[in-house]
Amino acid sequence: MTHATSAQPVFNVPGPRPFPLVGRAFNSLRFAQDSIGYTRGLFHTYGHLVALAAGGGTRLYSPRETCPATVFACGPDLVRQVTTQHEVYFKHPLTGPLYRWRQSSERAKPLNHFLVGLFGVNSAAHLQQRRLMLPAFHSQRLETYAKDMVAIAEDQLNQLRVGEINEMAAWLRQLTLRIVTKSLFGEDIGPEGESTGHIIQAALSQQGNLWMRLLPLDWPGLPWHRYLNLVASYEARMRGLIQAKRQGVGESTDVLSLLMQVRDQDSGVHLSEDELLGHVGVLFVAGHETSANALTWTIFLLSQHPQIMADLLDELEATLHGNAPTLEQLPRLPLLDNVVKESLRILPPVPWNGRVTAQPTELGGYALPTGTEVLVSIYQTHQLPELYADPAAFNPARWDSIHPDAYAYNPFSAGPRLCIGAGFAMLEIKIVLAMLLQRYRLQFVAQQPVDRAGVIVMTPRHGLSLRVHPQDREFRQGVGEVTGNVREMVTLP
Ligand code: HEM
Repeated sequence: MTHATSAQPVFNVPGPRPFPLVGRAFNSLRFAQDSIGYTRGLFHTYGHLVALAAGGGTRLYSPRETCPATVFACGPDLVRQVTTQHEVYFKHPLTGPLYRWRQSSERAKPLNHFLVGLFGVNSAAHLQQRRLMLPAFHSQRLETYAKDMVAIAEDQLNQLRVGEINEMAAWLRQLTLRIVTKSLFGEDIGPEGESTGHIIQAALSQQGNLWMRLLPLDWPGLPWHRYLNLVASYEARMRGLIQAKRQGVGESTDVLSLLMQVRDQDSGVHLSEDELLGHVGVLFVAGHETSANALTWTIFLLSQHPQIMADLLDELEATLHGNAPTLEQLPRLPLLDNVVKESLRILPPVPWNGRVTAQPTELGGYALPTGTEVLVSIYQTHQLPELYADPAAFNPARWDSIHPDAYAYNPFSAGPRLCIGAGFAMLEIKIVLAMLLQRYRLQFVAQQPVDRAGVIVMTPRHGLSLRVHPQDREFRQGVGEVTGNVREMVTLP
């Protein structure tokens, strides 16, 4: 099936032919508009490995000079190959193709580290930096983070107004932003930290601006200028904060302070200030949109499954009696664990793992040239009927009898790049759910469309409006009123 030459192998992964007239750009556009819907059809037609366009010639996010093709992969075998071959499949900074412009001017230079973090390092450098970061996510540290999570969740819960409709996706984003800010920066930062989060968020959404890519001119009024201003503003704030922390380091236990102090025991290597800036930006981004959407999708699923919701509340009340869970109590909440696992399976907040091949390789029987973009579909893998019976059913009880391996179930990915914040995220999701559901009943507001959006993080396009009631167990209200393409993903009443 593969015809290797001495230089680059021929790219012959099957896939749709480029659209007439509009060409390959149209394939890319279809993917950008609805990555899940578009690729579901492709996987169905072509199997577990499929090209975005037959013959290649597409580029979605790679910052490398050349990008011969883009492929999508699903299923445990391909997931295992991509996630474990650390020297073959590289990751790149979250700035994607903009990373190529990092030397284009003095003002663009921060792109050398902005949103680089663990995402933008590979090979030995990745393993070394990851080792330096692990202590900040050690289980002992989780105890401190748990206390902050409970305090912040309590405060946010007090802001919900009974009887009113609340846009829960935004409310949960605010909650998880506050939690990640507190864990990253500690006491002293307050609203300043949250607004730093908003700056990064604004830069990220600006990255999708097509005009910026077509017209990268640093002139007032143009998007590239605005983008560089946001990056400069992030830099200035973070350098100021690091400076301030340097004076008082020793006492603080927040992630930034820990990262400022770590040294590799063998080599003495530590993180430079630029590397710190990159790591913190990535932790900000990776650490709150993801958990917020996991929570949003979970409360949506519960709003449509009244019996599961009732059973879950029974479990929570019997063990917690209205209180927040402690770390010791969590193992005694098996249904909560099953609900979260099943939600992350059926509506994974991170539906794709993106990589670029660093050398010619072979995947699923096909040759991939160096520079091929490979997107592993976590979503589609979780939908395979040979792994999960009736895959579109939200059925937490299935977890009592199934034990998929790390490549069949991988909401946090697998291998050496397994999400470093997975323990943090599971803790946060469980604490927030347990507190929220014991206190309030959240009723789905009839007929609002629930449509998926987003490529890096899957989110409900129009948010999620729920009416807030005291917890009165009237779980049937609002059931069966959902419209939108989420119905293609989950069997709903
Ligand atoms: C439900 C919540 C979350 C989900 C679903 C999630 C998912 C993922 C996935 C799938 C990856 C692998 C990406 C890839 O290999 O292409 C990843 C990596 C990562 N995540 Fe998470 N994540 C979550 C929460 C968090 C939190 C709370 C943090 C930090 C506070 C975090 C920090 C990171 C970092 C730094 C990486 C890069 C790891 C590496 O490359 O070594 N994530 N996450």
